[in-house]
Amino acid sequence: MPHSASAAGRSAPSPRPARGRREPKRAHPDHEVARGLKGVIATETRLSHVDGERGVLVIGGFPVETLAPHAAFEDVLFLLWHDRVPTADESTHLRRDLAASRAMPDAALPLLRAAAARSLPAMDALRMSAATLSLSDPAPDDPSRSANLARAVRAVATFPTLAAAYARLCEGRAPLTPRGDLGHVANYLYMLSGDTPSPNSTRALETYFNTVVDHGMNASTFTARVIASTRSDLISALVGAVGALKGPLHGGAPGPALDMVFEIRRRAAASGRSLAEEAGAWVRETLTHGDRVMGFGHRVYKVRDPRADVLGEAARDLFVDHRDRALYDDVRAIEGVVVHTLGKLKPGRRLETNVEFYTAMLLHGVGLPTELFTPTFALARAGGWTAHVIEQLDQDQLIRPESRYVGGWDRTWA
Ligand code: ACO
Repeated sequence: MPHSASAAGRSAPSPRPARGRREPKRAHPDHEVARGLKGVIATETRLSHVDGERGVLVIGGFPVETLAPHAAFEDVLFLLWHDRVPTADESTHLRRDLAASRAMPDAALPLLRAAAARSLPAMDALRMSAATLSLSDPAPDDPSRSANLARAVRAVATFPTLAAAYARLCEGRAPLTPRGDLGHVANYLYMLSGDTPSPNSTRALETYFNTVVDHGMNASTFTARVIASTRSDLISALVGAVGALKGPLHGGAPGPALDMVFEIRRRAAASGRSLAEEAGAWVRETLTHGDRVMGFGHRVYKVRDPRADVLGEAARDLFVDHRDRALYDDVRAIEGVVVHTLGKLKPGRRLETNVEFYTAMLLHGVGLPTELFTPTFALARAGGWTAHVIEQLDQDQLIRPESRYVGGWDRTWA
């Protein structure tokens, strides 16, 4: 609901200091705390709209269901950066620019090698190497919109090169040179495996990229906008956003969601009990340990995440000729039991399937290892992050909320 702070998530004001004590000076002593900023509208954006009650996501004016399965990712980038669909010439031009900007800065490779030697998480490697993009900036001091658009092209073009290079280094293989004749998504798949990807896999992953390219004021986008709001630079904002996306409550869920599916399958095979029985037991066990079932629940959606539908359909098409065709049916069966059991064990919380559940399925289907799930999310979301940074810089409004002090007042320094 559009208001400055929702009732949910607020806490009562803390008691004022006792009479006779030094009265603290506070700007708004009676303001309530919007914990986690739930329900707070912090800015206006033309990039995407999330309606959590109706399960609607609009990206750049298009419902996600009509945009994601059909568009080329490059055209979605143009839409976000320029607020309109590109002409054929503009589309060709942007594809050419992106393809020509894929090489990573020289400084990135030794850094990725050092990270691989220590087996760091791929998101740490992406964060560290993304920072080297400042080195390939021909005009680092230029704050103009056109310079930022050029930075956005270079960053989005280079992210897949960094992620793919790191994945190969971790497997003891040499990174591959990007191929200019392939589209953005197909080239990413090529740089991982060395094989030209099938049209099926490319379409599935492109649908994924389009689906998750932007999503309102999520934590990583907010992080990017806070950094941009200080008039800092686009690369700094991207590096911060990658850090925010790494967390399991945001972008880190699909790996554990897939692990859960395979563990439930393994248990069913070992125990002879049905998949449904094992799935129900899994949810009960998870909640008993105080944990969360990954791929379910959402801060904004209180119904099924519309992105789960789009990705579920893309996964269904992908799995038609997959070597593990039964996986799709198993995943659907597990999903139903999980939602049902969460509804019984957490009444009133409205915990439904979120984007990450079918993300796991789709990314696994195109052959990505789980370690690459969150970095791949970052490659797609980089499109939204860059557009938000440019929008934030245009708005030029410092984001700086306040906090309520709950520490002591009368301590004496000895
Ligand atoms: N499994 C079990 N219980 C859950 C789950 C879950 N997946 N999600 C929420 N709950 C419970 C909480 O324990 C809490 O219960 P309580 O009131 O008894 O304490 C209640 O539902 C509300 O949870 P909150 O954390 O307050 O809800 P919030 O809106 O802050 O959390 C979040 C949203 C972080 C996504 C949460 O649902 C979650 O942890 N899900 C699992 C992780 C996940 O899938 N993350 C990906 C999200 S999509 C994305 O970021 C791209």
